[in-house]
Amino acid sequence: MWRLVTILFLLLNGVCEGGITSSYVRKAAPSIEIPKKKFPPPPGYNAPEQVHITQGDYTGKSMIVSWVTPLEEQPKYVTYWEADEENDNKRNRARSITTTYRYYNYSSDYIHHATIKRLKYNTKYMYVLGKGNCTRKFWFTTPPEVGPDVPYTFGLIGDLGQTQASNQTLEHYLASGKGQTVLFLGDFSYADAHPFHDNEKWDTFGRFIEKSNAYEPWIYCAGNHELDLAPEIGEQVLFKPYKHRYHVPYRASQSTSPLWYSIKRASAHIIVLSSYSAFSIYTPQYRWLKEELPKVNRSETPWLIVLMHSPMYNSNNYHYKEGETMRVVFEPWFVKYKVDLVFAGHVHSYERSERVSNIQYNITEGISSPIKDPSAPVYITIGDGGNIEGIADSFIEHQPSYSAFREASFGHALLEIKNRTHAFYTWHRNQDSMAVSGDTIWFYNRYWFPKEESSSST
Ligand SMILES: *[C@@H]1O[C@H](CO)[C@@H](O)[C@H](O)[C@H]1NC(C)=O
Ligand SMILES: *[C@@H]1O[C@H](CO)[C@@H](O)[C@H](O)[C@H]1NC(C)=O
Ligand SMILES: *[C@@H]1O[C@H](CO)[C@@H](O)[C@H](O)[C@H]1NC(C)=O
Ligand SMILES: *[C@@H]1O[C@H](CO)[C@@H](O)[C@H](O)[C@H]1NC(C)=O
Ligand SMILES: *[C@@H]1O[C@H](CO)[C@@H](O)[C@H](O)[C@H]1NC(C)=O
Ligand SMILES: *[C@@H]1O[C@H](CO)[C@@H](O)[C@H](O)[C@H]1NC(C)=O
Ligand SMILES: [Fe+2]
Repeated sequence: MWRLVTILFLLLNGVCEGGITSSYVRKAAPSIEIPKKKFPPPPGYNAPEQVHITQGDYTGKSMIVSWVTPLEEQPKYVTYWEADEENDNKRNRARSITTTYRYYNYSSDYIHHATIKRLKYNTKYMYVLGKGNCTRKFWFTTPPEVGPDVPYTFGLIGDLGQTQASNQTLEHYLASGKGQTVLFLGDFSYADAHPFHDNEKWDTFGRFIEKSNAYEPWIYCAGNHELDLAPEIGEQVLFKPYKHRYHVPYRASQSTSPLWYSIKRASAHIIVLSSYSAFSIYTPQYRWLKEELPKVNRSETPWLIVLMHSPMYNSNNYHYKEGETMRVVFEPWFVKYKVDLVFAGHVHSYERSERVSNIQYNITEGISSPIKDPSAPVYITIGDGGNIEGIADSFIEHQPSYSAFREASFGHALLEIKNRTHAFYTWHRNQDSMAVSGDTIWFYNRYWFPKEESSSST
């Protein structure tokens, strides 16, 4: 186990408060991808692979099960049953819709998406895919019924990729055994880091995350590495591989695009936004969010959580202020509706903000300093999954007053919602054992208990 000595810098930065820049800096070792052959397809003729699941409706009674078959389109269904009812006559089937796509000279295999509906809450289900000796079996547990004091634990992972560091992040998360659903902040496979956006990397990524995502839902948010725009090779349809491979229940929240949508799960209302789709006034995303926020019922789902890829508050030299335009458009609503937490990825480091807002911004007057605001969310940047691009180890000096804690390490976080007022949050760097937390804080709900929080970081 690592013993870390943390030096605390209290920066007197004009304002009488300052955050902590952890003295621990991960060595900027190259982040080399795990070779494709280390992610072989499962054995057997036409064996189903790249199995992944996500919530399939607004309230958690459905699950979208997705998988890929390499040679034949059949069988096009998932067989499922309650785990404690092994007898055959209780087995059900859900049919898949099946898609394929081409990307430059790559042709995808058969990509299946089946929505299992009318599940019972809080119940373990088994499911099988494939046929004959190539059948593969998995399981998942449905969430409890939506309600204000339902405890539930989310994992937080961003910018994962498929390197040794990515594998450490995912293994570390799985080893804790605590997470029930992953909130994934975007940037999946990094296929676009390869010539012609080598889409086989989308396949190897699907095989890589199966050990988690076949058994627990990931809530998907799209990042810039999902754009796959390459007009030089004739690829002009944005998000093409991503939209074929990862389906989300966007229609259930009256969204018109899979890139922004919302779900309710246990005691949380989760809103997913797209940093790389239009969001200014009159655009579909703007209109959707404007309608969506007043619908959030804090008596039903006290925890209001927003996911996006590009952070609105970030004090790293990497991608500095890329989220600024979205901040100007959406931040007033986040404060008005008392969003609890905003999670983002994109910057390959870890950072947590104070509760601040900067909604007085007025270009004419030039006032542009964030101020403490108890109605504002905490902004967490967790693009530290450990992908091919390496660590973002260059923070802006001095640490701005809005930044509470920042560290250039790879890791993941856990958000353990306890009830309508309290949620326990921990961030875990890859090189520590799971018992160690690099950043710990009790979050208090902005609607039910808007008290100021205090953190401890080690
Ligand atoms: C599955 O069965 C077929 C024929 O019945 C056989 O050729 C094949 O090797 C088997 N595959 C596995 C993975 O056992
Ligand atoms: C696609 O084209 C590139 C460049 O010509 C080549 O290296 C690669 O092997 C091709 N891939 C397939 C699947 O044909
Ligand atoms: C990921 O890490 C686990 C645990 O160390 C290891 O068993 C597995 O082989 C690794 N996966 C790859 C593809 O290297
Ligand atoms: C909000 O949720 C509570 C608890 O489920 C319910 O009693 C109430 O009617 C809901 N309010 C609205 C406006 O739907
Ligand atoms: C911005 O500041 C100017 C000058 O004080 C004022 O006239 C204007 O109303 C302000 N605009 C907004 C949107 O607050
Ligand atoms: C909510 O959870 C916190 C932390 O576990 C606990 O201290 C508090 O008493 C709980 N509140 C209620 C009303 O149970
Ligand atoms: Fe990104």
